[in-house]
Amino acid sequence: MSAKIPGFVFASTCCRLANAFGSNHISGRSKFLHCLEKRFSSSIVDRKLNYATEFSQRNSNNLSRTHVSSSRSLSSASTDPGTEVSLLPRARRAFMYVPGDSEKMITKASQLVVDSICLDIEDGVAESSKDKARELIVHSLDHVTFQPNVDVCVRINPVSNPRAVDDLDALFTAQNAPQSICVPKIETQGEVEWLMNKIYGLAVDRPPNYKAHIVLICETPRAILNLVSICTELNELSTILNCNLVPDSIVFGSDDYSAAIGATRSEDATEVLYARQKLLMIAKMFSLQAIDMVYTDLTNDEGLTKTCLEGKKMGFNGKQVINPKQVETVQSCFSPSPEELQWATELVAEFDKRSSEGVGAILFEGRMVDMPLVNQAKNILRVKQKMNL
Ligand code: COA
Ligand code: MG
Repeated sequence: MSAKIPGFVFASTCCRLANAFGSNHISGRSKFLHCLEKRFSSSIVDRKLNYATEFSQRNSNNLSRTHVSSSRSLSSASTDPGTEVSLLPRARRAFMYVPGDSEKMITKASQLVVDSICLDIEDGVAESSKDKARELIVHSLDHVTFQPNVDVCVRINPVSNPRAVDDLDALFTAQNAPQSICVPKIETQGEVEWLMNKIYGLAVDRPPNYKAHIVLICETPRAILNLVSICTELNELSTILNCNLVPDSIVFGSDDYSAAIGATRSEDATEVLYARQKLLMIAKMFSLQAIDMVYTDLTNDEGLTKTCLEGKKMGFNGKQVINPKQVETVQSCFSPSPEELQWATELVAEFDKRSSEGVGAILFEGRMVDMPLVNQAKNILRVKQKMNL
């Protein structure tokens, strides 16, 4: 199947380019990335034409690329207009990084009841231990039993780093390929195109029920400013390829972002507020989950709670976590409280009853309620529903 669509297997190209430019050298890396992008942009037009033809033939519907791009969000929004819609099977309240070179920490992680564990081959692992981490993760996918319903994700190296190819190739040698793949430092539409094609090529022989959820980390100004085209490409390729690659979440990499803009991280995080909100807004426009920044002070549970509640209030679905002791606080903050659930259930019931009598706005507990507040209440119920799956 991969042979039908040109340019599906770029592994050898990447290795050749990496060797040609010297993968460990900064200028070599940027030349490598530049060349990678040039290679993709020259093929994008042809490939998009191929996709459009294939897609319209398959559906005998003459669907244009524009129609395809909006189909995901339109189909979900049309059933429930105005609410925050996510197509995910479960909540991703805590997204916990586990250094992939540490057998001890992987064992510890396997005992935890947490929404998502992210076995790391990127920045949580020293350069000299990356090969070890990759091997240990592949071994763990097949031999470590994680708690039921825990999403096991792997963070590979950035697409701009030749290691990404080796990481992805290795992950798909495991019998249990990862449920989610997290890609850091994503910056361009071309990188998403490469990524989706690469994973598609590797996952194509898996059983039909295999799904790879795609989690992207945005952590540079370029990523934030390109996020609309990044998400468009992600959703379009997932739809057009009609396959098992599921767009899932956008993660805010606050600390790399701060380094990139020369900011100093502070407790109130005002220096990253604009980027944080912009990322959230774009993720939600594409029906993706938004995962908030890490909180690195492991001694300050009060501070952790405050930043969690602030993120939740802004609309984030969850938060990155770096240590097991943060999991409980984070998961509990991003869960609806009993009071919120009661409020949402009663409000929706009352509004449904009154709107069937032809009323558009009602008074509920002394406050005016119309559709926007009903939709906020439905968001709360939806999070609860996902936690139960
Ligand atoms: N995943 C799994 N287990 C972890 C863990 C993690 N991220 N962080 C700590 N643990 C384990 C420890 O090994 C220890 O296990 P034990 O009880 O069997 O001895 C237990 O949890 C308590 O650890 P603690 O003493 O609180 O922390 P530490 O001093 O061992 O480690 C850090 C502190 C910050 C170095 C560690 O939490 C870590 O490496 N976190 C991940 C960092 C990372 O991935 N960064 C990149 C993404 S931003
Ligand atoms: Mg980072």
